[in-house]
Amino acid sequence: MSEEDSDTFRSPLGTKQHWDEVYQLEINNFEDHGDIGEVWFGEQVQRKVIRYISETLNVPLNTPIFDIGTGNGAFLFALAEEGYHELFGSDYSEPSVNFCRIQQATFTEDKTIPETAHFTFFVSNFLEDDAKTPNGGNFYSVIHDKGTYDAIHLDPDIDKEKYYTALKNCLAPGGVFAITSCNWTEDELIAYFVRQDGYLKELTRISNKTFSFGGKEGNTVSTVLFKRE
Ligand SMILES: C[S@@+](CC[C@H](N)C(=O)[O-])C[C@H]1O[C@@H](n2cnc3c(N)ncnc32)[C@H](O)[C@@H]1O
Repeated sequence: MSEEDSDTFRSPLGTKQHWDEVYQLEINNFEDHGDIGEVWFGEQVQRKVIRYISETLNVPLNTPIFDIGTGNGAFLFALAEEGYHELFGSDYSEPSVNFCRIQQATFTEDKTIPETAHFTFFVSNFLEDDAKTPNGGNFYSVIHDKGTYDAIHLDPDIDKEKYYTALKNCLAPGGVFAITSCNWTEDELIAYFVRQDGYLKELTRISNKTFSFGGKEGNTVSTVLFKRE
């Protein structure tokens, strides 16, 4: 998607009301038959990022990891299964955060996730409340986004620069930012996140298949990791 398209393209997926309805439905489904809902862009994409974090970067298990727009929290629950235990997820949709807390209680009780896993799920609009994370600014050594940057861009009225500012307020020195998008190519992501200020450098790109999102078919799913010096 070009910057011009993103300035005009409007989709229900860019509204909080849409996500509230999605996660309320996912709560109902989970309580009815244990379905965890949609893992955006598929489990394989998620697994590749987790493998890169755990095996290639050897990120220690006690590292604070923050998932922006965590949705059903599937990324954080998968990290917990790997032994990561300082896990933070925010979303501007209250039903999303409720859903994560409900799953956490269930998974802890049935021992799907280790007892040591510590989750902090909180309601927050990333573009407005970034500094209000539970531990103050620049705390997270790994920050992850899958589909949230995309969803944010489906509201043409939002000031897109706020995302970059919020990210800068959250990422710890030496930290890693991993983003998966289906609306932006790897080059477009790099053009947005790697700037003259030298804050982020490209670390690696992870290749994926194609996907449909926001009414557009056949988009490539791009995953890029960046490092803060
Ligand atoms: C495509 S879903 C992806 C959910 C999750 N990251 C995943 O991979 O399953 C987009 C998510 O971004 C959240 N979101 C959109 N705009 C947001 C904002 N400004 N602040 C926080 N969360 C936001 C939505 O509520 C939704 O959970």
